[in-house]
Amino acid sequence: MSDSMPPFPSEEIACQPKDPLDHEVCLCFHVSIRKMQNFIQREQPTRASQLSQCLDAGTGCRWCVPFLCKMHRQWESGEAIELPVSPEEYAQRRAAYKRAGVKNDPLVEPPPIAVSP
Ligand code: FES
Repeated sequence: MSDSMPPFPSEEIACQPKDPLDHEVCLCFHVSIRKMQNFIQREQPTRASQLSQCLDAGTGCRWCVPFLCKMHRQWESGEAIELPVSPEEYAQRRAAYKRAGVKNDPLVEPPPIAVSP
């Protein structure tokens, strides 16, 4: 390789999507936010667990399940469906989870707990 050639971009940088909707919410099954939005609009799921019917999202390492639940809550309340973090940080947090088994990512607040009267 000559000294005049530019450095080859790392795979991480080369694979970053340009459109935020192309960011993957389920990294195991490559389910993008766009795919999940389309699924939710089409299927109108009544429970967050139904999001697994979108290309098996959440059924691999299960790290993304709290984020899928958050997306379902966002949709139910009429908010935009989005991730609370950049795709790079999202991938880093999932990698840390896979290395150490760290669950309950602080980026996702726990779902509301039903309190009986
Ligand atoms: S990131 Fe979704 S199941 Fe692993």
